[in-house]
Amino acid sequence: MPRLVYLNDQFIHEEKAAISYLDLSFQRGYAVFDFFRLVGNEPLHLEDHLDRFYFSAAELRLPVGKTRDELKQIIKELLWENEIPNTGVRLQLSGGEYSNGAEFISPTLIISQVEFTPPSLSMLEEGIQIISYPHQRQLPQVKSTDYLMSIWLQPLLTQKKADDIVYHTSGLIRECPRSNFFIVSATEKLITPGDQVLKGITRMKVIQLASMSGMVEEREITLEEALNAKEAFITSTTRQIVPVVQIDGKPIGYGKPGRVTKDLMRELRRHCGIESE
Ligand code: PDD
Repeated sequence: MPRLVYLNDQFIHEEKAAISYLDLSFQRGYAVFDFFRLVGNEPLHLEDHLDRFYFSAAELRLPVGKTRDELKQIIKELLWENEIPNTGVRLQLSGGEYSNGAEFISPTLIISQVEFTPPSLSMLEEGIQIISYPHQRQLPQVKSTDYLMSIWLQPLLTQKKADDIVYHTSGLIRECPRSNFFIVSATEKLITPGDQVLKGITRMKVIQLASMSGMVEEREITLEEALNAKEAFITSTTRQIVPVVQIDGKPIGYGKPGRVTKDLMRELRRHCGIESE
């Protein structure tokens, strides 16, 4: 069954969903998106994702053209029509057809359902190895479609036999190309950069869960501090929590996923109603 996609006021079959080559997303990379997952056929943390979607759109001066209730109704209809549980939903908004001014006359709104690959069992049980790279995302709090650096760096990842990258600027850790970054200090404090990063929804949930039982700090982390941390992990919608066991070839802690990370992985899964991947 071909699935439906919502494109500018219409539900149409995926293979017929086309946008103009003049669209600003293609011409100038001017677009925002958000991505949430379904547990069964139910959106996970929908309100938080909508908050961020409207925030990103407003930051880029892009009118969504739909109220929050209208958007929710469209999503509901799409999920009902497609009936493909445990997938992801992507909301995407671009500047629409190219014009020279800074006014966006007819933004393009696309809502689609997409499969995603959850982390492998070995990533969850053994953790991942990452490398650091100097980079700062533009307008970091905006979830833009700009993943230029991340895609460009793929050959480096292959060459270094690493699983992911963590960006830093002048030795201060920011985030990974598609996830947020956390460390656990020697005193078992959870620390994550609070500035110049995308405010991940998973990051927010982890902070909320961890603050119930322990100390959480949102502050700058130097690369040096990360290399000497007791534990480290990354968070995102598709991966939830994945332990980091090596940075730039140096083992973190004992080079194995730590207890605090493992407890949080379990708690977050329970909180989200995702019992197993
Ligand atoms: N990535 N930082 C960046 C730059 C991201 O692109 C993402 C999400 C995150 C984590 O945010 P969240 O917990 O809300 O997923 C942090 C999405 C999933 C993606 O790449 O499609």
